[in-house]
Amino acid sequence: PAPGMIDAHGRHIEYLRISVTDRCDLRCRYCMAEKMTFLPRRALLALEEIAIIAERFIARGVTKIRLSGGEPLVRSDVGDLVRRLGAHVGHGLHELTMTTNATRLAEHATMLADAGIRRINVSLDSRDPDRFRYITRHGDVDHVLGGIAAAQAAGLRVKINMVALAGLNEDEIAPMLAWCVDQGLDLSLIETMPLGAIDEDRTDRFVPLTRVFDALSGTFDLTRDTYRSGGPARYWRVADSGTKLGLISPLTANFCDGCNRVRLTTEGRLYACLGHDDQVDLKTALREGGTAALDAAIDEALRIKPKRHDFRIEPGAAPAVARHMSVTGG
Ligand code: GTP
Ligand code: 5AD
Ligand code: SF4
Repeated sequence: PAPGMIDAHGRHIEYLRISVTDRCDLRCRYCMAEKMTFLPRRALLALEEIAIIAERFIARGVTKIRLSGGEPLVRSDVGDLVRRLGAHVGHGLHELTMTTNATRLAEHATMLADAGIRRINVSLDSRDPDRFRYITRHGDVDHVLGGIAAAQAAGLRVKINMVALAGLNEDEIAPMLAWCVDQGLDLSLIETMPLGAIDEDRTDRFVPLTRVFDALSGTFDLTRDTYRSGGPARYWRVADSGTKLGLISPLTANFCDGCNRVRLTTEGRLYACLGHDDQVDLKTALREGGTAALDAAIDEALRIKPKRHDFRIEPGAAPAVARHMSVTGG
């Protein structure tokens, strides 16, 4: 087999994030503009091509794969991909997982669990129906809550992803954590990141998680946990519960030194960093050169992987990169 994957800064790459579609049935205000242009369907990798690329990464040492989007469950053949990659869990792959908005999770939860997925992350920025509708522009929070319940009933561990937004949900963070404790869920809080043009200025909504953590510490008994999920979050245990609180703080506590990730887009581009445009074209490599060309392109991505992102949240500043989170799946 080809050697494992180490980038030019000595970081081991073990985590592949795959965006299976850039489309989404919601339009979260911090993520997307109201009017979005999505990729034409013919530009997308076939499911078989995604699987071949993912399997090449597994052969080269990737142990964790996350399917994301856009919204992964809006791609009609996603179940076939989940089952195909699920067969690798325990055989090279330690974890197959998904990040979803859960609008369609109720229909798919059993399939995910049967395929070998053990835990998933669900985006939920508010439990209040009107606020949820406002933030997502289209969403019905009851569908999401039903999806979470179905996932738990199917035996999946669920972590809630909540992007902290000033004036929209900051006051709901402590109640959300209390609810997660009550429901046996984990919670990751996320600082909003400057990716892609949206219809507002992200500066107005940015909440430093340092401020949030100080407030939560007054109400909850939080103990730093050495647990790592393999993602960017740092974790705290909430006393007398099974709940972990995760903080994803790209702006106030940079975590790029420990980066272990690369990202495959639905068009077959491999982005070396969420915060930069450096990329290689795996679709062309696969179609024109097969495995050897694929390996060469992956090696090139490791060579060019940037040291860190340059995110800044400042009034009037252009987004660090023009592409939206939904293209690279976070
Ligand atoms: P776990 O496996 O549960 O740790 O999940 P994860 O945090 O790796 O994945 P998830 O899709 O839930 O992402 C949560 C947030 O972390 C999203 O906002 C992602 O964009 C963000 N995130 C993940 N990886 C990176 C990264 O390398 N850099 C930055 N800046 N953000 C990241
Ligand atoms: N900044 C931070 N998080 C974002 N997400 C989407 N766009 C952004 C952004 N600009 C989150 C979603 C989802 C995860 C994959 O990324 O809420 O939970
Ligand atoms: Fe869709 Fe997720 Fe973006 Fe919301 S954050 S619009 S659910 S991709």
